[in-house]
Amino acid sequence: MHRQSWSSKLGVILAVTGSAIGLGNFLRFPGYAAKYGGAFMLPYFLAFLFLGLPIAYTEWAIARYGGARGFHSAPGIFRVLWRNRLAPYFGVLGLIVPVGIYMYYVLIESWCVYYAWGFLTGKLVLGTDPESYRQFFHDFTGIQSNGSVFAGLSPALVSLVFCYLANFYFIYYGIAGIERVNRIGIPLLLLTALVVLVRVLTLGTPNPALPERNVLNGLGALWNPPQEGWVALGNAQMWMDAFGQIFFSLSVGFGVIINYASYVSKKDDILLSATTAASGNQFAEVALGGLITVPAAFVFLGPQGVGSVFGLGFVSLPAVFAHMPFGQLFGFLWFVLLFIAAVTSSVSMLQPAIAFLEEGLHLDRRKSTAGLLCLTLAGSLFVAFYSGNLEALDTMDFWAGTFFIYILALFQVVVAGWIFGADRVLEEAAEGSLIRLPRILPFCIKYLSPALLATVFIFWCWQKLPEQWHKIQTNYVTQLTVLFLLGALLFFTLLTHLAVLRWQGRLGKKGQR
Ligand code: ALA
Repeated sequence: MHRQSWSSKLGVILAVTGSAIGLGNFLRFPGYAAKYGGAFMLPYFLAFLFLGLPIAYTEWAIARYGGARGFHSAPGIFRVLWRNRLAPYFGVLGLIVPVGIYMYYVLIESWCVYYAWGFLTGKLVLGTDPESYRQFFHDFTGIQSNGSVFAGLSPALVSLVFCYLANFYFIYYGIAGIERVNRIGIPLLLLTALVVLVRVLTLGTPNPALPERNVLNGLGALWNPPQEGWVALGNAQMWMDAFGQIFFSLSVGFGVIINYASYVSKKDDILLSATTAASGNQFAEVALGGLITVPAAFVFLGPQGVGSVFGLGFVSLPAVFAHMPFGQLFGFLWFVLLFIAAVTSSVSMLQPAIAFLEEGLHLDRRKSTAGLLCLTLAGSLFVAFYSGNLEALDTMDFWAGTFFIYILALFQVVVAGWIFGADRVLEEAAEGSLIRLPRILPFCIKYLSPALLATVFIFWCWQKLPEQWHKIQTNYVTQLTVLFLLGALLFFTLLTHLAVLRWQGRLGKKGQR
């Protein structure tokens, strides 16, 4: 099989940055920041420094090591790192995480497309009352009743089909297709975000009758210490969400970097690439995502406008644009920005499974793409159907988008630090790198990162697992969604088993490794 590789250093940096910058930066992060207030920033930045960055370096290093030995998917790479029968099966998480997230992520991406279209055509110019936008959002997504988006050819389904075509078009061309979408997408994204940011930061105090609703106080909603003081830090869910958000946002422990970085050559500076992509992502998240959404909602709608993740993005902000001069244009730009951010991320979620189907089962590009299309479409339609209260979407986001990521990141850092060996990780990371390894890195990989992850995990299980378990027992949509995810997990485990047999030479002609 023809070995793929990035065409240039810039190509891989843009691709990883494109994967990282996504809806997580512009919707999920502001949503959490608004939910937990300033208290969120402490676990969030701790997680960035002591988990996100060290695990990103580790992931880049082990991925390049695996790639040089002919593997580009988590099951194959783990098998190279750890000569244990079970190793490739842990790699299944590196497939189910991106695929599971893709299933609901592409649905939100399709909402952005429709909202951009709505602003362009004036369909979404509904006045300044957030209630009108809430109603629109509810009707469009079918939040009030399951199955409602399937009544006829609804705009939600048409937008979903559009996004599927876009994603699978790019992924069909593999690494070259990914490079193409990012080369155009990233500059366009940054430009659009800066235009919207300047507009928001120059809003001042738009209503002189309400002087407390100004941009500075809007920023305070994000950064001020919590009113209830340090007790706010005793919430295990907040820690889990902050840690999960760092992984989600950086696309680390996500199955994506382990795949992308496996196409990087020995000569490339992976430390520099990893640092550039991570810094670019944090800039987009904190300086663009955070500064646009929360202050904008605050100055026009007050503290109650800074609602939940979707309330903020799809209800408050459209109402905010209606208050602004040229609001229709800014509304259009905002949703185009979200769409670009989303598509450069969603494409990255498909490549790990494609790589696996090709190297594990020897499927050609056409078959691997078609197979993945069927599987992900089934998942997206499932989430779109069980739209009541967005229950299926939230459940998938928690289990695939936080819980599984968490386990994968933990597994990855333990295997790299303790089994493969921290020294070998550092050696691999240093190869071709001009920048020096941070001195604390070995300590992080071996002790600090696993200890932090394990501590918060135990704390969360003790405080919150019973709640999740209760939800699974009492809510049938949650049950179905968890079953769906477990079914997909089982399916990938079986495929991994076939791949292992093939790699051992016990199946098919090509097994030789
Ligand atoms: N890293 C991507 C995001 O933040 C998935 O949306």
